[in-house]
Amino acid sequence: MGLRFITADEAASYVNNGDTVGFSGFTPAGAVKAVPQAIANRAIAEHNAGRPFKIGMITGASTGDSLDGSLARAEAVLFRTPYQSNADLRKLINEGKADYFDSHLSTVAQNLRYGFLGKMHVGIIEACDISADGEIVLTTGVGISPSICKVAEKIIIELNHYHPKSLRGMHDIHIVADPPNRREIPIYKPSDRAGETVIKVNPDKIVGIVETNLPDEVGEFSKTDEITEKIGENVAEFLSSELEKGRIPSSFLPIQSGVGNIANAVLGALGRNKSIPDFEMYTEVIQDSVIELMKEGRVRFASGCSLTVSQNKLKEIYDNLNYFHPRILLRPQEITNNPEVARRIGIISINTALEADLCGNVNSTNVMGQKMMNGIGGSGDFTRNAYISIFTCPSVAKNGKISTIVPMVSHVDHNEHSVQVIITEYGVADLRAKSPQKKAEEIINNCVHPDYRQQLRDYLRICDTAHTPQSLSAAFAMHLHFLQTGDMRGIDWNKYLFNGKCC
Ligand code: COA
Repeated sequence: MGLRFITADEAASYVNNGDTVGFSGFTPAGAVKAVPQAIANRAIAEHNAGRPFKIGMITGASTGDSLDGSLARAEAVLFRTPYQSNADLRKLINEGKADYFDSHLSTVAQNLRYGFLGKMHVGIIEACDISADGEIVLTTGVGISPSICKVAEKIIIELNHYHPKSLRGMHDIHIVADPPNRREIPIYKPSDRAGETVIKVNPDKIVGIVETNLPDEVGEFSKTDEITEKIGENVAEFLSSELEKGRIPSSFLPIQSGVGNIANAVLGALGRNKSIPDFEMYTEVIQDSVIELMKEGRVRFASGCSLTVSQNKLKEIYDNLNYFHPRILLRPQEITNNPEVARRIGIISINTALEADLCGNVNSTNVMGQKMMNGIGGSGDFTRNAYISIFTCPSVAKNGKISTIVPMVSHVDHNEHSVQVIITEYGVADLRAKSPQKKAEEIINNCVHPDYRQQLRDYLRICDTAHTPQSLSAAFAMHLHFLQTGDMRGIDWNKYLFNGKCC
């Protein structure tokens, strides 16, 4: 059967109530746009006619508004996994109107192949090129697309002419074999290629191709401010001092850097710090700051899962593809985030925490332990397996009413055994080779905002002198105080003592 061109509405008619649908993309980069909007319109029409219409959504990570936003606003989400960051979807999840389950991004594709996520009825994939014999060239994000193509019963392609066909060759499509046949992934440095340039599928599975010409829905980054700049400088100075002490090889190690403004500031500071040699990235998201450093020659190579760059930056890349093409590889998240590769090549991981505690546990996902923010993303994949794992965060949130350093985190994503270094605008807490008591002192002295230092020192004082300085009766007092008064400051720890002692 030859390839068949169809409209987005016709494509949406292949998706039925209760289906599980796999969507391409990783962040808004490479996420499909036209068909999910058509599915959302179909859901609204079905709801208006009094009929149910919801689908299970499996993606690489967050996507664009046309996908997560449209389907959330149409209340058409049966379940959603993994990472998401769309405000409307977050609201739906926190109102209990959509089931959401989170997982390490490196595990999503294998969970799909193992059958843990059930049957996948339809896969919808964005491509910049497709051949009659089923060779698909992806666009700016790889995510879990190769595994979607493998397991989905039907495939719909969004052929997006916004992206040049000459992207062919920038992708490294490698699907690992499943146990007991899995072998090592042959990546020994970020630029090593492990797989093919295209996804190959049986063309009979492709039920239609929808042509589009749409940019990725990547938002602009806000400018770095004094606090993010200072965090960035602290990271750069810490890594430069590790180099000086010979604890990082003189050729340096590949950097994994999270997403957002702090990550942008950190990369900027690494680029400016002349004692840090030109470096490579083995990361998840390649964002604007990486491209800037690549232009300057500071980043020699970037391996990632997506090119999540602003429209202007993407234009710059496409206008200078001869320069950028050989310096970038886009791979499935199962490879970019793979624990085996991360530990072998010795990545330095730098991710952002919502809150961290005095033992070094980190919460990346649940505000006040209850409200889902985005998800764990790849932070766990990298943190657990890094050569050095770093978490950054501003010392306070909500104009100082919340201390991001608390006695005990209200939800644990990364535990004290994986988290090695915490960095705020005030400084660096190096937790390696320290007892729980020493870790707590290091964090308070170096990272906590001055408004909270004495309060947290007083907390340590009321804690019994057992191995781990924690008080079960007071560990969440700062969170409770915030929920009751709107501020974490002003705790009277005596209230938490029983017979003059804490417990
Ligand atoms: N308690 C309550 N709210 C908090 C908080 C805390 N301890 N810390 C931050 N917040 C609030 C902020 O005030 C802000 O609120 P607003 O949206 O109403 O302004 C919001 O949370 C986001 O904080 P911000 O400082 O803008 O964070 P960010 O954009 O740098 O994102 C994470 C931080 C943790 C949410 C984000 O990095 C994330 O999703 N991480 C998990 C995945 C990950 O690490 N991926 C990278 C792997 S490659």
